[in-house]
Parts: sequence; structure tokens; C-alpha cells
Amino acid sequence: MYGETTSEWYRWFGEFEARGNSSRYELWALGIASDPELLSLIDRLPPEKRQPNLVLTAARFLGVGEVSFAEFRAWVLAHWDALAQVILTHRTQTNEVGRTAVLLPLLAQLPGPLALIEVGASAGLCLYPDRFSYRYDERTALDPADGVSDVTVRCVTTGKPPIPDRLPEVVWRAGVDLNPLDVTNDDQMRWLESLIWPGQPDRLQRLRAAIEIAKREPPNITIGDLNETVAHLVSSAPTDATVVVFHSAVLAYLTNEDRAHFEQTIRSLPCHWISNEACTVIASVADQLPTPPAETPGRFAVALDGVPLAYATPHGQHLDWFRHQPPRTTTR
Ligand SMILES: C[S@@+](CC[C@H](N)C(=O)[O-])C[C@H]1O[C@@H](n2cnc3c(N)ncnc32)[C@H](O)[C@@H]1O
Repeated sequence: MYGETTSEWYRWFGEFEARGNSSRYELWALGIASDPELLSLIDRLPPEKRQPNLVLTAARFLGVGEVSFAEFRAWVLAHWDALAQVILTHRTQTNEVGRTAVLLPLLAQLPGPLALIEVGASAGLCLYPDRFSYRYDERTALDPADGVSDVTVRCVTTGKPPIPDRLPEVVWRAGVDLNPLDVTNDDQMRWLESLIWPGQPDRLQRLRAAIEIAKREPPNITIGDLNETVAHLVSSAPTDATVVVFHSAVLAYLTNEDRAHFEQTIRSLPCHWISNEACTVIASVADQLPTPPAETPGRFAVALDGVPLAYATPHGQHLDWFRHQPPRTTTR
């Protein structure tokens, strides 16, 4: 998907993820993709640590400004040891509340009240879909019962997704993450803020407001691997609620074997399953998409119980709903 080399990975990131979302990241990623000296430094890192979003976030966490590529390059060369240290000790744990806008139409199809379990929860901010305000296409407004939230999530849709007329009732929330981020820890929240791309002040403001909402009732997030904990979490949920296990932008971090193991486990548990992952990440979902994943680069597939219902952009800005169609015949 990203190509064979680090250079191709950065070029892919610049062209398909950053373009249209952060001109600074596009500039830096494309600059790195053509810079043998920076690429050779990045290639000294373990493969999973060469990820563009991680390297660029670590530089901003350490204070590089919104500078030209030439200045960025000089800064990286001068600070490589400190930069590598941050890269090696941190993960890309972007916690994007915008993704709740693409999860909501699926959550609303399930009978309430809901018990939510997020695997790969980061700081757990997506566990509060009932506490945010939503504006779909700037026409459909959806607010919590007690009024407009400090967090407003905007989403442009096509294909008429089933937007509910009220938010679901959530009676229980829990999560798991290899490294949960604590909403009450300022240093960890500064890392989370650094994960917001440059030139996105609205996203930053929304993140800060979501952190404040979560701080009032900090989420219960277990430390651990999702495959090892999900069954226990499901069995801990209240029995008089509909249990929903969901995840966004998580399974890509697992090996193919671990993804298959997770799918097998989740299908055996008494719960619903909502996935929001890049199109190729869950093979059984990829096989059912109306368009071959190679033709939808940068898109996520949103699925309920393994059945894809929509495409989404990675941060939930767009939701393209499609009627479920019979699986394409593939030669996988
Ligand atoms: C990109 S973040 C997404 C966070 C959140 N789901 C969201 O949509 O905002 C991915 C998260 O998955 C976690 N993660 C990755 N592999 C995991 C595993 N095997 N078990 C539990 N968490 C994992 C990471 O630590 C990270 O916090």
C-alpha cells in the first residue's frame, strides 16, 4: 500500500494523507521522500518507527516551528539524537474525535442502551460519542440532551447515511490500549496535541475541549493487547445493555495473523463489532467493498459486524454511505 521503501512511504503520506489536510506536512513529507540524508537517518530506526506521522510529530513535540523544508531539514540534522529518543519512546496515538461522526450512524442502528468498548482507545476520547454535538452537511444538527456540546464534530456525507434524530444512550464505557494516555496527565496530553497536524487550529481546539469532557469522567482504559483483553472486557460489561466493541485506525498496527485472530475472537463474543479501518486492513471487509481498495487510496471502510456500509476519510470529515452489495469476486 505504501510502497517498498521509506521514500515511497513518505511520498505516499505526502500525496494521499497530508495533501488537502496539512500543507506543512505535505511539504515536509515530500521533502524527506527526496532527501537521501534524512532517509538514511530514518532508516536507522526500527521499521515501525519510520512512520511519517510519528517522525513529524516528534519533531513538533520537541519544538520545531512551522518552517520551510530547508529549515526543518537543518533542525532535524542538528537534533537527531533527541528526536530519535522521542520517536523510540512514543507512539502515534492520535485520538480523533471526528471519527465519532462516522461511527454514530452505525451505533444508532443498535438497540440501546449501549455499553461501549474501544480497543486501541488511546486516551479514550471516542468513548464519548453521546457528549458531542454533530453537524452533518451543515444541515442536520444533533446535540446532547443538555444542549450544544463544547465539541462540535462536522461531517460531509453522500449516499444518505441513517443519521439518527437523537444521540444513543451510553451507560458503560471501557477501553484497552497498549499504552493508554491519561487525560489528567499534562505531558501526555501535550503529546496528543502534537499529533494534531500543523495548520489545523480547529482540530486542536476540539481536542482540548474533548479532553476537558473526558476529564470530568476519566475513561477506564486497561493497559494491554486487544487480543488478550477483549473477551474479558466484553464479559465485564453490564448484561442489560447492548455491548459494542469498536476500533478506528488500530488494526493496521497488528500483523495479519493478529488481525485474523482478533476477527475470529470478536465474531465468537456476545457483542456487536464496529470497525473503521483503512480499506485493506481487514481482509474479509476488503473483499466486500464495492470498489477494489487500490482504487480508494487513503479511504477507511466502516463496517458493522464485518459488513462494510460506508467509506470514510481517516479523520471522519467525510462519510460516503453505500448500500451493501454482494462480495466482489476476487483472486486474492
Ligand atoms: C492511531 S491510534 C487511534 C486511537 C483511537 N482509536 C482513535 O480513533 O482516535 C491507535 C491506537 O491503537 C493502539 N494499539 C495499537 N496496537 C494495539 C494492540 N495490539 N492492542 C491495544 N492497543 C493497540 C495504539 O497504542 C494507539 O493508541
